[in-house]
Amino acid sequence: MTPAPASEPLSSEPLSSEPLSDDRATVSVVVDGRTLIAQPGQTILEVCSAAGIETPTLCWAANLTPVNVCRVCVVEVEGSRTLVPACSRRVEAGMIVQTDSERVRHSRKMVLEFLGSGVDLSQADDLTRWASVYGADPSRYVDPQMMNEDVKIQDNLYIRDYDKCVLCYKCVEACGDDAQHTFAIAVSGRGFDARISTEFDTTLPESACVYCGNCVGVCPTGALQFKTEFDLREAEQWRPESQSVTRTVCSYCGVGCNLELHVQEDRIVKVTSPADHSVTSGHLCIKGRFGWNYLQPE
Ligand code: SF4
Ligand code: SF4
Ligand code: FES
Repeated sequence: MTPAPASEPLSSEPLSSEPLSDDRATVSVVVDGRTLIAQPGQTILEVCSAAGIETPTLCWAANLTPVNVCRVCVVEVEGSRTLVPACSRRVEAGMIVQTDSERVRHSRKMVLEFLGSGVDLSQADDLTRWASVYGADPSRYVDPQMMNEDVKIQDNLYIRDYDKCVLCYKCVEACGDDAQHTFAIAVSGRGFDARISTEFDTTLPESACVYCGNCVGVCPTGALQFKTEFDLREAEQWRPESQSVTRTVCSYCGVGCNLELHVQEDRIVKVTSPADHSVTSGHLCIKGRFGWNYLQPE
């Protein structure tokens, strides 16, 4: 189901006139003309991030295995016929990488336009920021007929608004073997009919979903959203600029999951978890994610 990462042979020609590191515990690569020392096994994305080179990503997340479906992170690698995804391609000694060439910029622009075509991007802040950086205009391809799906509201925990879905697969990975191992959702259909779905498109309460909300935690566009956030947005009372975020430890059991309580006007409006925490890696169960209403009477 998950596309395999691109894999192209590198040129055997000498790759750089810059002196390479003799230290066999590290590899030397050239990125945008700068010689950088990397750890073996690091991805191009990690090396770029450490060097302060920002790279757009959509299907990548720090707490998920790269699935290589969006291709917005592509870079040029000398000797490689095609552009390669920076989020999953590991560096090799002597690799020469271009992250901002005309070819890379053009590809990223087109990918951002295709990803956003026919999608409501009103809550996809990162994607719209990158679209602006690359001069991408997803509305060029928008057919308003494509955005006509009712929001699925089947319980009080989270909603699904698939007009906002860019098919990044993050929710599928979080529900599957990257975190929850429940496999309640997957991509069904092909081409324009591809969509995230429960098995046989059943309602969430009838599906295998255990309401951990890990899919909500990784969704970058608001297609999956806390019901509390959805209701406040509908009432035009969602005010992230006035919210505080307090980190605490879940009180339900002894695992020690870290919670981030998002509070607006003295009420918790949603709970997330830090992706870099060693216990949870951003993932929670239903109790930590949704079981906080006892703290605040209706
Ligand atoms: S809430 Fe958890 S179990 Fe349900 S679809 Fe999302 S990730 Fe899967
Ligand atoms: S629902 Fe969200 S996380 Fe899932 S594929 Fe769509 S945009 Fe990605
Ligand atoms: S972020 Fe690299 S392929 Fe999606």
